[in-house]
Amino acid sequence: MSARKILVTNALPYANGPIHMGHLLGYIQADIWVRAMRAMGHDVIYVCADDAHGTAIMLRAEANGITPEQQIANVQQEHERDFAGFGISFDHYDSTHSTTNKARSEYIYLKNRQAGHIAVRPVHQLFDPEKQMFLSDRFIKGTCPKCKADDQYGDSCEVCGTTYNATELLNPHSTLSGATPVEKSSDHYFFKLPNFTEYLQKWTRDQGRLPVSIANKLDEWFEAGLADWDISRDAPYFGFEIPDAPNKYFYVWVDAPIGYMSSFENYIQTKRPELNFDDYWKKDSSHEIYHFIGKDIVYFHALFWPAMLAGAGYRTPTGLFVNGFLTVNGQKMSKSRGTFIKAETYLQHLNPEYLRYYFASKLSDKVEDSDLNLDDFIQKVNSDLVGKVVNIASRCAKFINTKFDHQLSAQCAEAELVKSFIDAGDSIASAYEDREFSAAIREIMSLADKANQYIDEKKPWALAKQEGTEQQVHEVCSVGINLFRQLVIYLSPVLPKLANEVQAFLQLEKFDFASRKTILLNHEIAQFQPLMQRVDKKAVDAMVEASKDSLAAPVAVPVKAAKKKEKAVEKPTSTIESDVISIDDVLKVDLRVAQVLDANIVEGSDKLLQLTLDAGEAEPRNVFSGIRSQYSPEDLKGKLVVLVANLAPRKMRFGISNGMVLCAGNDERLSIISPESGAKPGDKVS
Ligand code: 2FM
Ligand code: ZN
Repeated sequence: MSARKILVTNALPYANGPIHMGHLLGYIQADIWVRAMRAMGHDVIYVCADDAHGTAIMLRAEANGITPEQQIANVQQEHERDFAGFGISFDHYDSTHSTTNKARSEYIYLKNRQAGHIAVRPVHQLFDPEKQMFLSDRFIKGTCPKCKADDQYGDSCEVCGTTYNATELLNPHSTLSGATPVEKSSDHYFFKLPNFTEYLQKWTRDQGRLPVSIANKLDEWFEAGLADWDISRDAPYFGFEIPDAPNKYFYVWVDAPIGYMSSFENYIQTKRPELNFDDYWKKDSSHEIYHFIGKDIVYFHALFWPAMLAGAGYRTPTGLFVNGFLTVNGQKMSKSRGTFIKAETYLQHLNPEYLRYYFASKLSDKVEDSDLNLDDFIQKVNSDLVGKVVNIASRCAKFINTKFDHQLSAQCAEAELVKSFIDAGDSIASAYEDREFSAAIREIMSLADKANQYIDEKKPWALAKQEGTEQQVHEVCSVGINLFRQLVIYLSPVLPKLANEVQAFLQLEKFDFASRKTILLNHEIAQFQPLMQRVDKKAVDAMVEASKDSLAAPVAVPVKAAKKKEKAVEKPTSTIESDVISIDDVLKVDLRVAQVLDANIVEGSDKLLQLTLDAGEAEPRNVFSGIRSQYSPEDLKGKLVVLVANLAPRKMRFGISNGMVLCAGNDERLSIISPESGAKPGDKVS
């Protein structure tokens, strides 16, 4: 079999925030695959870069009082440090803010323009006259045009759920300056995605291109019809100016995937001049290209990206490997629970290989979310890696080192057993290749069980105490070391650091999958050194504590705003549950028990009920609450509720709302939080 030539990329992280556990799932997955394919003898190039452009990064730099260039340089350094810390074996790490990327982006754009895939037309948008910039939805707030709730974002209302255009908001203001935005028109550049509908319909169904579940999802988008894609942003914007369009910039998602190409191009230029860019990217190339991405960015990679490439005359990726999100302890990562764990914080407390192993034990080729359960993590690493794998070496090596002068026996006493370990390598290799890592780990661990059983049966420590059993001890321990070697070769894509140490301990020149086929006989090994410590629960607890502490990162973009959907764009790849507030913030909220004296339907609103509440004050309160879908007025009369008593009164179309009633759930499933019947109106809730 000849070596396949493969180019692998990971999604490019935004240059405005740290790498965290959620990111690492995808990077570790790709790195294991890359290492496994290399171990099988394939020629794999693995590149990545920081995704350096966009409004969020520009504003983050402004808030940090530095230039965007300084901002992205600082963050890139941190990202590279964290990736190296987790053993991610990129051949090259670049930035989308490079001259190579600028040239490649311009070229791809111009080719598409030449082929008739670009349109220009005016777009009406809200403009901040103070900041002198157009505002995307998340930087605009105002009153909902439907239910009149105040303080709603530019795309949808959190009270009544209506979606609208930002220009429809009443009393809009810019969240950046507070100024009242004005409507302004400007020319935008569009990529005519519908030109590629047929091409993409076929492309997404090509064998191996995408997980089938994703291709099915894409069908819904095809049915809804593809729309032109707005690829320009007006100045000020941190990005590349569009050729022949002064003050218009490529939207970040145009030059981001092109960063895959330019990072590869810079790799060739700086490290591998003998390689040829076109050999990989020309239309009919037989080399393979795979992008590892999260499920939230499929739209960009399965539609815009292949269309842009095809429109410019390039080949498209061989396949997209899509991973799900990460939860920690069964929930979204949360700063308040200390489960929003940054890569840097993890590395200060724990061995990165624990996490690599744990993720490997969970990952398959399915687009499924994974959970990092910290108790399970401790248990699994300790029982599998320390209890099963490393244990084999520590049980056998001391005899080889002390009694046999570091020399393995001249003959193999259990050739069948060792051969069965060697043979298992083929199915383990194909599990890796298919990204069925959890299956590979299961198979390796069942081999580890067999190796331990063998040693348990032979009991070299007992034999060593008997007379005339020297050769037997030598042979049993040599078999043990051979089995251990097989296991660590199989684990090497997951545990590269351990594999390096074991390779040194066994004094082997090669440690790839093919090298496993020879049995080590008459072979000298080095002095055994402890290889891996048990996971210390205290270190895990300390990491969680430290994650609670490390919250004070400067935030330029309002965090809530950053979470708003800009059509799933420009948001950090994160599963953060909510903003973190201090205890002082909590104490500012005055929660009181209140009793519903009266409840009425609000004419003209299908969401709201008007409540008259006794909150233990001289006068009853009037509160509008969006609970009509779940409660009728009759359900509520006499009910005890929890009232946010010090909320600023809000002027609504139907009158003034003086407080807020706390509910749990969402629009479909809303339930009022109700104190036990002993509570009295006006009681404090804490
Ligand atoms: O979603 C994200 O985090 C983007 N920065 C990923 C970009 S991947 C590629 F297209 F550049
Ligand atoms: Zn509304």
